[in-house]
Amino acid sequence: MQRFHNKVIFITGAASGIGRETAIRLASEGASVFLCDIDEVGLAETLQACDRKDTVASVYQCDVSNFDECTRAIDACITQFGQLDMLCNIAGIAQLQHFTDITAQQWQKILGVNLSSVFYLCQIAMPHLIKTKGNIVNMASSAGLVGQAYTSSYSATKAAVVNLSKSLAIEYSSQAVRVNALCPGNVKTPLASKLNIPEDIDKHLLGRMLPLLEAAQPCEVAAAVAYLGSEEARFITGAALPIDGAQTAG
Ligand SMILES: NC(=O)c1ccc[n+]([C@@H]2O[C@H](COP(=O)([O-])OP(=O)(O)OC[C@H]3O[C@@H](n4cnc5c(N)ncnc54)[C@H](O)[C@@H]3O)[C@@H](O)[C@H]2O)c1
Repeated sequence: MQRFHNKVIFITGAASGIGRETAIRLASEGASVFLCDIDEVGLAETLQACDRKDTVASVYQCDVSNFDECTRAIDACITQFGQLDMLCNIAGIAQLQHFTDITAQQWQKILGVNLSSVFYLCQIAMPHLIKTKGNIVNMASSAGLVGQAYTSSYSATKAAVVNLSKSLAIEYSSQAVRVNALCPGNVKTPLASKLNIPEDIDKHLLGRMLPLLEAAQPCEVAAAVAYLGSEEARFITGAALPIDGAQTAG
């Protein structure tokens, strides 16, 4: 399938996990991909994995929680490719802590990376997406659909990403820009495997976080990003799609 032939796609979080698999998937379907992350080494690895004769991939180191850096990144993408067809906001961080242990600094950091970045990049990219009748896929989480113990700050940012996406979907529907959110449950990536679980937490409260099925692979989430970004999803906008093995179904 070459659903993204002649399409330019900006992807954050592209140095690892779901962002990397999304870059590989979209490039394999013909997209030119602009790969953005704070991690230069990981970006270089993703670039190598996307390297194909028929597509162009380039990397850009950027802290997505910084508005000016986001502006420069979108400008660089437009300078290089001349257009923008899709924005994938995938960069994110997580922390598992007692609510009362979260410092103001940690709260500001997770707000910046998980939520402000999405706000900034949607805003900066929107004029370009209006020109191409493009679309946005924002990576939320099952934790953005239901409450979750010990991830209150993460949950709060992801719930906000869901409603930001829905609000933009309505506001830009008349200009044919689609905006969707994806809400994965447990996915096998470094983010999930590196979570430090405090020893004194009530483990049965964590039970709700566990999917009924085995954790998803990042390529399975990337497949959903590709579907939502493609013309096959022309009538899907304002959705918050769970990919969570029925974790949030009941
Ligand atoms: N893994 C899961 O179980 C899971 C579940 C639901 C949602 N998600 C979401 O999926 C997204 C991707 O997560 P992942 O699991 O692939 O994690 P990951 O840690 O493998 O990848 C996250 C990427 O974001 C980048 N990043 C972090 N801070 C950044 C910053 N300030 N500027 C630019 N880039 C930055 C990291 O360098 C990394 O490459 C996140 O938004 C996460 O919240 C993950």
